[in-house]
Amino acid sequence: MKRDVKAIVKQMTLEEKAGMCSGKDFWHLKSVERLGIPEVMVSDGPHGLRKQAEEADHLGINESIKAVCFPTACATACSFDRDLLFEMGQRIGDECQAENLSVILGPAVNIKRSPLCGRNFEYFSEDPYLASQMAAAHIKGVQSKNVGTSIKHFAANNQEHRRMSSSSEVDERTLREIYLSAFETAIKEGKPDTVMCSYNKINGEFASENHWLLTEVLRDEWGFDGYVMSDWGAVNDRVKGLKAGLELEMPGSGGHTDQEIVNAVKNGELEESVLDTAVERILNIVFKFTDGRQEGKFDKEDDHKLAAKVAEESMVLLKNEGILPLPKEGKKIAFIGKFAKNPRFQGGGSSHINSFKITSALDAVKDITEVTYAQGYDIHEDKTDEALLAEAVQAAKEADIAVIFAGLPDLFESEGYDRTHMRMPNCQNELISKIAEVQENTVVVLHNGSPVEMPWADQVKGILEAYLCGQAAGQAEVNLLFGIANPCGKLAETIPYKLSDNPSYLNFPGDGQTVEYKEGVFVGYRYYDTKEMPVRYPFGYGLSYTTFAYSDLQVSSQEIKDTDTLKVSLKVKNTGNCAGKEIVQLYVADKTGAAIRPVKELKNFVKVFLNPGEEKTVEMELDKRSFAWYCTAIHDWYAATGDYEILAAASSKDIRLRKTVHVTATAEIPMKIHMNTTVSELLENPRTREVIQGMTGSLLEHMGGTSEEKADAASEAISPEMSLKMLENSPLRSFRSFMGMTTEEIQELIVKLQKAADGEE
Ligand code: BGC
Repeated sequence: MKRDVKAIVKQMTLEEKAGMCSGKDFWHLKSVERLGIPEVMVSDGPHGLRKQAEEADHLGINESIKAVCFPTACATACSFDRDLLFEMGQRIGDECQAENLSVILGPAVNIKRSPLCGRNFEYFSEDPYLASQMAAAHIKGVQSKNVGTSIKHFAANNQEHRRMSSSSEVDERTLREIYLSAFETAIKEGKPDTVMCSYNKINGEFASENHWLLTEVLRDEWGFDGYVMSDWGAVNDRVKGLKAGLELEMPGSGGHTDQEIVNAVKNGELEESVLDTAVERILNIVFKFTDGRQEGKFDKEDDHKLAAKVAEESMVLLKNEGILPLPKEGKKIAFIGKFAKNPRFQGGGSSHINSFKITSALDAVKDITEVTYAQGYDIHEDKTDEALLAEAVQAAKEADIAVIFAGLPDLFESEGYDRTHMRMPNCQNELISKIAEVQENTVVVLHNGSPVEMPWADQVKGILEAYLCGQAAGQAEVNLLFGIANPCGKLAETIPYKLSDNPSYLNFPGDGQTVEYKEGVFVGYRYYDTKEMPVRYPFGYGLSYTTFAYSDLQVSSQEIKDTDTLKVSLKVKNTGNCAGKEIVQLYVADKTGAAIRPVKELKNFVKVFLNPGEEKTVEMELDKRSFAWYCTAIHDWYAATGDYEILAAASSKDIRLRKTVHVTATAEIPMKIHMNTTVSELLENPRTREVIQGMTGSLLEHMGGTSEEKADAASEAISPEMSLKMLENSPLRSFRSFMGMTTEEIQELIVKLQKAADGEE
């Protein structure tokens, strides 16, 4: 049924319209019975349902319905699997239909700027392309069931410290390339019904009242046509927010801000048409849900199985010195650590799900073999419990293999506050070291939402990064440890050796009022790789029980225009003896020198399943955006003319194949010549080069670089090459001092050069 929403809005009173722009309560939008506008509910999100039937809150404090907790985004991003995220989204969409939820609040695509952000577990990656791909697939999956999503938190909300008041100070190029980019691509490809604006300010303006962000960028440039809702309590000035493009305030304000809107219309401060448009946008999405209701299915057991599968595809095998997979018989195995029995599988706060069941590794292993168990450490306080430690060391000694289930306790990371360091609890580090001393066959399984330092990494033979992998995490861990499944996740973030290696280290979390993103576009591997810095485990890295060989990298053309799409293909072969999946990454390295850029950036990836000995050709595409950087001079993406390397890689530090392509730019950055334009800038532009080259001889002469006697006399002090280099750094202004030119002559020269630059001469 096609509704005439405009006609409905026309019939609404001013008060009804203002009322539509804020929630009825914590989770519902308002209804207007006389016009057939139904009440709809929204709910967290993102990796399962946190539907609160009774007492409501936004921090996961009060009980919600029993549901299924799928792996969190820090884990699912490591799957690099668009189809998997789509499938998980579909399932969540089904659950929403069954529970009558019109919008599920997520996915969350904020970039992991620092390992310390308390909410990193809910975010996908340090890389905007990967985050955008995972988010777009999740959105498409949920929305295929006619349930809305709310991509969040828009934007530059990369820490919890003072998240409701601090201003993220970010230059436009960095915003565009890193912090907005994940949203942009996910919104363009996934078309979410709603966007949730963040709490923080961006360059001094609250996201909730930022016209540039919510209207110029989001709607005018990206074509978003759903509605924007506030994060819970993110509204500062309601009327300003509405004008900026914030349609819905959540939760409800008890009518206060509705009245402010009414007053603003009455006193002429707010045009009623702005309100009408906002209500239309909200109603479009409300009716999209209610008119397209589908039969929902919430088969919890079935969804639990999917949660286990997603977890299996997401966990990352970081180290394996011949210890994994574990034997199913013939060896005594000890499972050590509280998380073997009670896994940490989700983070605290608004995404916290009331799981209907939890499968621990100890539960799951029962189907495979017998293990001994020792708790090892306490999760409530970071203090070694000598009795638990002794018992665990003894269990490890008596076994042939020890598997330690370790990680961050709830208190160490959560929504609402950041971590202050990157360490695991001391008592757990001590436990791992002490066990490794007595048991050479030690494996560590990690449960954490963000990287941890691993001082014991060299002492153990295996490390499985399980992240926070949902309520079936234990099942996936056991399947991977015993080789029932083959690990196929790769890191969606870099694990540095220590916190101070991280590029945001000196500027995180800021002074409380502002946080300056001084590292610019050099976030994550963009920094570590450009600095050639060693890291514990690089972005895109992960092991398998088999091995893969890459060959035959082909490109559809070695010369393209920036408007062309380049097709890239290569062969991948499973060279080991078990079936497995490989994530092939495609990075682009800009060799043009036109801008300061990271040495490489991820621009596509594919995950491919291969039987032993099997070889497949995989194909990927690159377009203008894959080569471009954001040029603020032209307010657009720009790929300079020149060479670019296409890198087919198994991780950001494991480049297997390379190929160079030449890109010709069809756009141009206009050159504005002035008194302080330098000779080198003029030499770089082919049009001005001709003019200035004709002058370099006499310029050098003036500088004492070419005439023979002078050169002889000065050769000891300054060679002709040195003069030329110095000349290159001279601005036109200096021609007055060193060339005897008058200001008028220089100005004439500028006119001539400008004409050349504009192609007029
Ligand atoms: C969080 C959002 C969440 C909302 C509702 C806020 O505190 O930042 O991500 O969707 O609460 O619970």
